Amino acid sequence: MMDHIDLPALTQASGTIRLPGSKSISNRMLLLAALAAGETEIRDLLDSDDTRVMLAALQKVGVGVTALGNNAYRVVGCAGVFPGKDADLFMGNAGTAIRPLTATLALSGGHYRISGVPRMHERPIGDLVDGLRQIGCDVRYTGNDGYPPLEIFPADVKLDAPIRVRGDVSSQFLTALLMALPLTGETAMIEMTTPLISKPYIEITLNLMARFGVTVERVDWQRFTIAGGQSYRSPGIVHVEGDASGASYFLAAGVIGGGPVRVEGVGRQSIQGDVRFADALETMGAQITWGDNFIEARAPATGKLKAFDLDLNHIPDAAMTLAVAALFADGPCRLRNIASWRVKETDRITAMATELRKLGATVEEGADFIAVSPVSTIKPGVAIDTYDDHRVAMCFALVALGGVPVRINDPGCVAKTFPHYFDAFGEITAPVIAIDGPSASGKGTVAQRVAAALGFHFLDSGALYRLTALAALRAGVALDDEVAVAGVAAQLAAEFSGEQVLLAGADVTAAIRAEDIGVGASKVAAMPAVRAALFSRQRAYRRFPGLVADGRDMGSVIFPEAQAKVFLTASAAARAERRYKQLIDKGMPANMHALLQDLQERDARDAARSVAPLRQCDDAVLVDTTPLGIEEAVAAVLEIAQRKLPRK
Ligand code: DC
Repeated sequence: MMDHIDLPALTQASGTIRLPGSKSISNRMLLLAALAAGETEIRDLLDSDDTRVMLAALQKVGVGVTALGNNAYRVVGCAGVFPGKDADLFMGNAGTAIRPLTATLALSGGHYRISGVPRMHERPIGDLVDGLRQIGCDVRYTGNDGYPPLEIFPADVKLDAPIRVRGDVSSQFLTALLMALPLTGETAMIEMTTPLISKPYIEITLNLMARFGVTVERVDWQRFTIAGGQSYRSPGIVHVEGDASGASYFLAAGVIGGGPVRVEGVGRQSIQGDVRFADALETMGAQITWGDNFIEARAPATGKLKAFDLDLNHIPDAAMTLAVAALFADGPCRLRNIASWRVKETDRITAMATELRKLGATVEEGADFIAVSPVSTIKPGVAIDTYDDHRVAMCFALVALGGVPVRINDPGCVAKTFPHYFDAFGEITAPVIAIDGPSASGKGTVAQRVAAALGFHFLDSGALYRLTALAALRAGVALDDEVAVAGVAAQLAAEFSGEQVLLAGADVTAAIRAEDIGVGASKVAAMPAVRAALFSRQRAYRRFPGLVADGRDMGSVIFPEAQAKVFLTASAAARAERRYKQLIDKGMPANMHALLQDLQERDARDAARSVAPLRQCDDAVLVDTTPLGIEEAVAAVLEIAQRKLPRK
């Protein structure tokens, strides 16, 4: 476990992120599939701490769950209550697991003990237990009254009166009752005794219950009736949407860091209330585009984020992201009606206030609100404490986009819902230096040395085209068959480890440098389908602390947002001479005149080709290395990087 991650100063965010599955939907679907008649295949399930807790608990009470790979699971439903009648269940800090499971187990006629991490034992569950006791369930506290751990015993249940339950502490109490009550087969009624918070989460619950065949009648947000005689039936194959709460960090990054940033997996069709976070960004002036399955965000046309004063009761999780976005607004911002923050993974109002103050912000907090005044300069190098709260860790990453380095302590806590969060964040924000230039300009060597000097990652994009050519030839694919070669590129089992290049585990470092592979690479690199197939793979190299990307279209197509673009060139004569020396040093035959002619022909071909022609980008800095040695060329590029990249 890393004890911290240091994010460098950042100024720019753009790109596309494929979201992991929604936690709220994943855990609800798992439970509904477990209770349903028939087998359910759940695809795109979130792989995280909270879903692992739910999977393990279901298996312990006798539910058949099989991992099918690629985040798909087959769940063999029990068609009613769980077969396992005695179990100790550990719920970690997963509210979406402990609440619905407690209600379900209380109606399952068994003896169960339920516990979690210490923080879970501080998170209230009393309103749910009270509700269950009203219908005769035998649920007891084994620690403090009103909190887990719990012990559950078999009991006779009577549904002769409505269950009266509070709605203003956690909407999960209502979700738990709604999901569990159909197990009784009788008509059940729930009445809220206090106004319901976080209503969109109840919409998710009702939506998913309906998909599994149980409908709930609702009168306002006050009274819910589940008609008797209904039972859960598997809908067959179901898909989990991307996590809309997790989307908030990337959308905000797009707005603060220019954008566009696109998140895939949620959109217009989403059943998650947290997609409304995009509306909140819009009130700040952000430019938002909606697709059926994506949302895209970019900075306000004016370039300035507007202050806000919003009731955020409907998006309590995503709202935390707004508290950090407030640092970048043009005036004081107020987040209202968020009392539930106090009983989440940590007391989020206190946590957010404490950490925002460390950055220099003036923060006011109350029982159910937080007010944040922006700062002209965020204090650099602050270490943010995360309180074992994934969302605190994730939203404070945005601070780096203020052009200041920031340290996030205990970054591993993001595993609760988004295990690869910091990689994904790096993919849209890490600094990029794009180096392009003609063949034999020495750009490969220079790029590699610059990367080493800065401690950055290195992408040799030419090697990917060489690998594609080699893999195609080895697979017996004709190099003029564009569709087939693109298929090879999409599946390329390539790996770079240090200086070594591996293809399907075999060392091909030397093999890809062979003359015929170079010719093959040049052929396949001219095919649009091949370039498209390698696009996301190259984008994925953008990582912390930064990337040096070497190749033809690095600054124009793959990383148009690169903070530093260099066009490295040298006269044809100088390049021919360098190549000549290289060959002679290797003891190979060489002819100066032939080399020069070859280079000139290749330059002409490269400049004339329609796909990714060799050309200096408008915003690239020209470095002519004709009179320079390698060390001087490296120094020249480093000097450009220093000028263009955000300060350390
Ligand atoms: O840089 P190199 O010689 O390893 O590149 C191999 C081939 O791929 C060469 O013909 C240029 C081409 N290429 C490209 O079209 N786009 C890139 N980004 C990198 C290389």
